[in-house]
Amino acid sequence: MKKIIIAIDGYSSTGKSTIAKRLAKELGYIYVDTGAMYRAVTLYAMNNDLYTDDLDREGLIERLDDVKVRFVFNDTLGYGETYLNDVNVEEAIRSMDVSNRVSAVAAISEVRKKLVKEQRAMGQEKGIVMDGRDVGTVVFPDAELKLFMTASPEIRATRRYKELLNKGQEVTFEEVLKNVTDRDYIDSHRKDSPLVRAKDAIVLDNSDMGKNEQFERIYNHAMRMI
Ligand code: C5P
Repeated sequence: MKKIIIAIDGYSSTGKSTIAKRLAKELGYIYVDTGAMYRAVTLYAMNNDLYTDDLDREGLIERLDDVKVRFVFNDTLGYGETYLNDVNVEEAIRSMDVSNRVSAVAAISEVRKKLVKEQRAMGQEKGIVMDGRDVGTVVFPDAELKLFMTASPEIRATRRYKELLNKGQEVTFEEVLKNVTDRDYIDSHRKDSPLVRAKDAIVLDNSDMGKNEQFERIYNHAMRMI
């Protein structure tokens, strides 16, 4: 079977990672969550007094060489967990504190340059499903299959809210909705690699679509190319 690159981009909390993980598992591909990488850099900034109330942009840029983000495959989970300087941060990077700060960190060109380089290296052998905001436009503009996922902000916030409650995080629906819309705004309006649909991406609005239906559609697209 031919190995391809599958790029899944889209707005926050559209279920990109759920679909991407399942697709990677079915195809025997590697799954890379690029959002986790931006979240890990944000956590580094928070842990090192570079982002409490305000972001110390220059301070973070200066220390970027000390930030090592990698994925370690977990057999039970079936995908790689995120490590920041050898510490498993898979859970810590999903907190609201990180979610509320990550888009400002992701707007720094130096941060993007470092992470995009690492993402390209991971996809060198193809056979990869990567999700994020700029995978089909910047990281792999020649990806064989590109998807762009969207859904209404209320539906996305509801899904995310339930997910966070299940994880035991104390949040309100309003807080989650604000985070989702704020991030979308910052991500779509930044100068470097804004969130836009690649011209050749297939758009998937999953506001009224179940997980299985979404998966079947994407899987069929992928199988036609492999
Ligand atoms: O995918 P996730 O919601 O975890 O991403 C968190 C944030 O990381 C996004 O809101 C965005 O600011 C940033 N991001 C990005 N480029 C990517 C992936 C994520 O700027 N390729």
